[in-house]
Amino acid sequence: MLYTGADVIFCDIDARTFNVDPSDVEKRITKRTKAILPIDQIGLACDISAINDIAKRHGVEVVEDAAPAIGESFNGRRVGSNAHQTVFSFHPRKVITTGEGGMIMTDDDALAARARRLRAHGMSVSDLERHGSDRVIIEEYDELGFNYRMTDIQASIGLVQLRRLDELLRVRRAKAKRYDWIARSS
Ligand SMILES: Cc1ncc(COP(=O)(O)O)c(C=O)c1O
Repeated sequence: MLYTGADVIFCDIDARTFNVDPSDVEKRITKRTKAILPIDQIGLACDISAINDIAKRHGVEVVEDAAPAIGESFNGRRVGSNAHQTVFSFHPRKVITTGEGGMIMTDDDALAARARRLRAHGMSVSDLERHGSDRVIIEEYDELGFNYRMTDIQASIGLVQLRRLDELLRVRRAKAKRYDWIARSS
């Protein structure tokens, strides 16, 4: 957020879930507000329906920070399918990992295409298209991008990790229950 030049306004949380309290979010919206960034804290989904409603009423964006919450659901829908854009982290501390890296999910094709361009220096044609083509394709750079590409090696680890997601969640849930039982009985 700071890289974009935005100011960050914090809001209060719901003490039962540690996630943002939607009624407090709404109180803090001003004419200068551009986006709401709720977090699915420690893997527990936030009330994204309430946040989406507030965003719609005020004409602002929602970016759901689901860094630690891959595999979690809200009202029966997997996190990643409930906000305009949702971001996940694949840092080693997270549910699945690629060493470093992450993922953006969106159902907005134009946004997805722009994110793909921005991660590769703003290049108009992907490496896959260029190198898979029989003819020479000269790419263009219409906007300033970044080098935020995940390496192919990391991506191949990530694909295997994704297949193991349900198993890894089962193990984590069983451990959380066990530690909860130890904490309660000590
Ligand atoms: C809620 C949340 N957002 C963002 C991040 C940052 O993720 P990354 O280190 O992959 O950029 C983390 C990592 O701990 C996190 O827990």
